[in-house]
Parts: sequence; structure tokens; C-alpha cells
Amino acid sequence: MLRVGVIGATGYTGEELIKILLRHPRIKISYLSAKVEKPKEISEIFPYLKKKLLLLCDNFNIDRALELCDLFFLAVPHTVSIQITPILLENKKYVIDLSADYRLKDKSLYELWYETKHTDHQNLRRSVYGLSEIHRDKIKKTRLVANPGCYPTVAVLSIAPLLKYKICKIQYIYIDAKSGYSGAGRISDEQFYRDLKDNFKAYNVDSHRHLPEILEQILSLAERKINIVFTPHLLPIERGILETIYVNSNHKLKIRNSELIGLYREFYKDSPFVRIKEDNHFPQIKDVVLTNFCDIGIKISEDRKTIILISCIDNLLKGASGQAVQNMNIIFDFEETEALL
Ligand SMILES: NC(=O)c1ccc[n+]([C@@H]2O[C@H](COP(=O)([O-])OP(=O)(O)OC[C@H]3O[C@@H](n4cnc5c(N)ncnc54)[C@H](OP(=O)(O)O)[C@@H]3O)[C@@H](O)[C@H]2O)c1
Repeated sequence: MLRVGVIGATGYTGEELIKILLRHPRIKISYLSAKVEKPKEISEIFPYLKKKLLLLCDNFNIDRALELCDLFFLAVPHTVSIQITPILLENKKYVIDLSADYRLKDKSLYELWYETKHTDHQNLRRSVYGLSEIHRDKIKKTRLVANPGCYPTVAVLSIAPLLKYKICKIQYIYIDAKSGYSGAGRISDEQFYRDLKDNFKAYNVDSHRHLPEILEQILSLAERKINIVFTPHLLPIERGILETIYVNSNHKLKIRNSELIGLYREFYKDSPFVRIKEDNHFPQIKDVVLTNFCDIGIKISEDRKTIILISCIDNLLKGASGQAVQNMNIIFDFEETEALL
């Protein structure tokens, strides 16, 4: 049995990790920690865990963590992971970090967008970006996975096949993204009613921290710079992301829609969590919520100069904890779908 710890166990993604890991036959949850005033049974925090998981949740203690676990999921805010990861790796542990601390290979971008110094260059160089379908071979060999952000997961999975098959010379990509409010971590009911109930709004317009992450990933796949505009919106629902992505070509596309769908299916033929919709069918959030799937619909515009991609995930699963467990399954050669279907 692989002994696993969840750091940040009381947060949105920490809670999802616990739920998934409890279903996993090859692992044992051995350690839980969060920022707490005093140690508490996890079932006091989440009463539905009573008689399912008997474990204390306490402030992080490195000695106990090292003694009890082989692998850690870090479901904590950025800058917290960077303080813990070096010592876990020095002690030959595995780390799957859900925060942004090890995602951007260009540390100056991290420092610019996250407004803090990056203090662990050595491990930043070693980290593998954990977009499972794209980097499976590298994930298999690493001890440090930088689990992707939720918006970049949808965007990069949607765009990658176009780059691989060089479908067109891309001029611009516009990403119009909508997310449930759990994407920002736990918020109070008061905040929800003030900002979101019966509302829909854009935020961080062309200035969201996931923009450099999307750009860096697309650049590494395209091997050239592509202009991307990214506007996120908040929906008055708890979970789920839908992105409508417009990929502008500088010439008229000759390929038929059904052929393009065929190429997407070929690209993802060994990827159990990506589902490509049929011609003229498009995904909706309710089809992916509480699943680890990414659903993608594809349409070439009437003037044949734009590819419209409409894609959905559950931000807390394929966009965070589900993909994190998928990455653990890949590293340890478990079935990739274990505990996730
Ligand atoms: N939510 C998403 O859809 C999503 C998707 C992809 C990636 N992520 C990333 O995943 C990480 C966790 O996100 P989340 O949505 O689960 O956030 P969250 O709901 O705010 O939970 C954060 C967790 O970290 C703990 N924590 C906060 N500060 C800490 C500290 N200084 N030391 C130790 N523990 C600390 C919190 O404990 P307390 O509750 O006691 O404060 C809580 O357990 C973030 O880096 C986020 O960017 C989130």
C-alpha cells in the first residue's frame, strides 16, 4: 500500500482528494494537515466521513509527515508548497503539488505574476507539468508533479491536437472561459450572496494568473509564439468550467469538420478521460461535474477561418484533485482510471 498525505485537507481540493483516495484500493490515507487552531478528527470537519476515515487533521508537522507517508498531495495556496517541497524531496518522497509554485518554468514569469520570489530553482527545473494526457511519459519518471491550473487544463487539452497536426497557421487564440466559484477556493456564504447569486461577470480580464501558464504550455507545443487573449468569468454555480475557444487561421481551412473530429479522436485514443463530441454536438457543464472527464466539441466557422472549440471539465476534479490522482496512478503504474471512474 502506498502511504499518502493530504496537506490542505480542509480546502475544496483537499476534500475532493480525500473522497477519491478513500475509493482507491492501492493507497492508504496516512496523514492529513491544514491550518487549524487545534488538532481535530477529520470527521468533525466533514461529518460524512464518520466511520469512513479515522484520522486527525493537524497543523503541518514535518517529522510526522515524513514518518507516515511516501507521497504528498499539496492542496495549499501558492508559496506554501515551495516551503515544504524541498524537504519532502530531499527525503525521497513524491510530491504532487496542486498550487502554481512549480508550474511556470520561467521563474521570472512566476515572480511577475505571483508577486513573490521563487526560492526553489533547483526543484523548479525538475518539476513536470502534470497535464496527464500530454506529458504522460515524463510524469511516469518524476518525483515532483506540478499539477496544472483548471483553466489551462481545458485550454491546452482543447488546442494541443491542432498544434500536433498543424491544422492551420494560427494567428490568434481567444479563450472565453466561465467557471463555477469553487475555482477560487472556499468562499463564505456571505461573499457568495453579495457577489454571485443570480449574477454572471468577467474578472481579471486579460490579466488572470493562468494566462502565462497557458502561453508557456502552448509555446512549448507549438514551438513558436502564438497570441492568446484570455477572459475568465464567474458563474453562479459551485463547480465546473466551460471554455469557448476561437482559433483564428490566417487562411481558409480546407479540412472538413468530421475529419477534424477524427483527428482529435486519434490524438486522444489512449486517453480515457477525454471525450470528443460528435459533429454538431457540444459539451455542457452538467455532463462533466463530479467526473474526471474533459469533453470537447469542435466546429469550423461558416467562413472557414475560425475553429471553435467548446470544452468542459469539473474544475475540482480534472482541473485539480482528479488529475492529481490520475498523475499518481501514472507514476505508480496503477490503472490510470483507478478510483476515478
Ligand atoms: N479550487 C480549484 O478549482 C483549484 C483548481 C486547481 C488548482 N487549485 C489550487 O489548489 C490549491 C488549493 O486550492 P483550494 O481551492 O482547495 O483552496 P482552499 O479551499 O482555500 O483550501 C486551501 C487549504 O490550504 C490550507 N492552508 C491555507 N494556508 C495554509 C498554510 N499557510 N499552511 C498550511 N495550510 C494552509 C487551508 O487550511 P484552512 O482552511 O484551515 O485555512 C485549506 O485546507 C491552491 O493552490 C489552488 O490554486 C485549485
